[in-house]
Amino acid sequence: MPDFKNPFRPGAGHTPPYLAGRQYECKEFLRLLSQERILENLVLTGLRGVGKTVLLETFKPQAINDGWLWVGTDLSESATVSEDKIAVRLCTDLSILTSGIVVSTSVVQKMGFSSDVELTEHTLGYQTLLDIYNSTPGLALDKLKKVLETAWRVLSSANHPKGIIFAYDEAQNLSDQAQKEEYPLALLLDAFQSLQRQGMPLMLVLTGLPTLFPKLVESRTFSERMFRVVFLKSLKPNESGEAIHKPIEYDSCPVKLSEDSVQTIIEMSAGYPYFIQFICREVYDAFMQKIDRGERASVPTKEIEQKLDTDFFAGRWAQATDRQRELLSIIALLENCNNEFSVQEVVERSKAVLEKSFSSSHVHQMLGTLSTQGLVFKNRHGKYSFAVPLMEKFIARQGLVT
Ligand SMILES: Nc1ncnc2c1ncn2[C@@H]1O[C@H](COP(=O)(O)OP(=O)(O)O)[C@@H](O)[C@H]1O
Ligand SMILES: [Mg+2]
Repeated sequence: MPDFKNPFRPGAGHTPPYLAGRQYECKEFLRLLSQERILENLVLTGLRGVGKTVLLETFKPQAINDGWLWVGTDLSESATVSEDKIAVRLCTDLSILTSGIVVSTSVVQKMGFSSDVELTEHTLGYQTLLDIYNSTPGLALDKLKKVLETAWRVLSSANHPKGIIFAYDEAQNLSDQAQKEEYPLALLLDAFQSLQRQGMPLMLVLTGLPTLFPKLVESRTFSERMFRVVFLKSLKPNESGEAIHKPIEYDSCPVKLSEDSVQTIIEMSAGYPYFIQFICREVYDAFMQKIDRGERASVPTKEIEQKLDTDFFAGRWAQATDRQRELLSIIALLENCNNEFSVQEVVERSKAVLEKSFSSSHVHQMLGTLSTQGLVFKNRHGKYSFAVPLMEKFIARQGLVT
């Protein structure tokens, strides 16, 4: 038998064997690329495991093919707590593009690079960008704008790109810190808005959890107009079907799935990309074993559910206290728990089913804690949703409250 390996890849940021759906999102991205002037930037948001990172990865070659430059990274929390740190982040990312470009001392001086800083190199590398930042007089905003302007001027005269995309994954980690008087998020938004107004084609593409966009708006209300928000959802049934069968529709693939099996996987996963990869990888292995033993195979739903519970849900559940679990169980009883629910709805349901019900302020406070634990999230209208897909089914299986 030829050596066909299990193609499915559950795991954060792992390129799927076949990227299903997402035509609409790609079209939106291409539309933003075609802007004469950057009026709209992109926020790509959605629950963990829905496919933001891998979609962002596919945007990159499309943008480059279209003549754009691309910089960016995964934003770790530590990189983004202060204004200077976000500036260092941008200098680091830009320097990958600019470091090969040699500039004369006079050019650098004309760009505002003060002459009392000794120029040790004539390439626009990280250190030079950082020196420009540090030596530009004024506020952090003036400094950052100078860096971006300089980099753009040099890059645009070198090979005439359409613009630069700044792509930041996990951007919900960006945070203004009022107590410390550090506003890195506001700084980023102000700098891009101001430069875009001057006609500079520098575009932001931010991806992150559903807390991202509310955070942007909270920092700067103009974010409402500055971003096109694309909310990634689970895949439609036909797209899920493609994600399941396309990776194995090869003659050399020993595993064949019946229409029934595909349907079962679509239902179990509810179209969530991470679950599709997870379940398919298990199904593939299970089928291989059966084939080896010459048996007929079907999807082992109970076993897979069990494995999902221990591998995916149990860790999150373990973090919750008894009382939080009780609250989560109440939420899982709500018909609209998959969509969004209000504090009031939780309070009412708890009165109906619990001896010791929850008060409104208690629910508020507990949902706040559960948000920081990444189990629920609050949207801009003050309503909540589960932050983990299919959580309500897992909770129901625990049978705590009925
Ligand atoms: N459109 C898709 N079709 C098939 N699998 C996908 C798709 N999008 C994501 N996946 C898979 O889902 C999992 C989670 O994707 P990821 O991009 O890490 O999600 P997120 O960044 O939203 O948390 C990965 O295993 C990935 O291969
Ligand atoms: Mg991701």
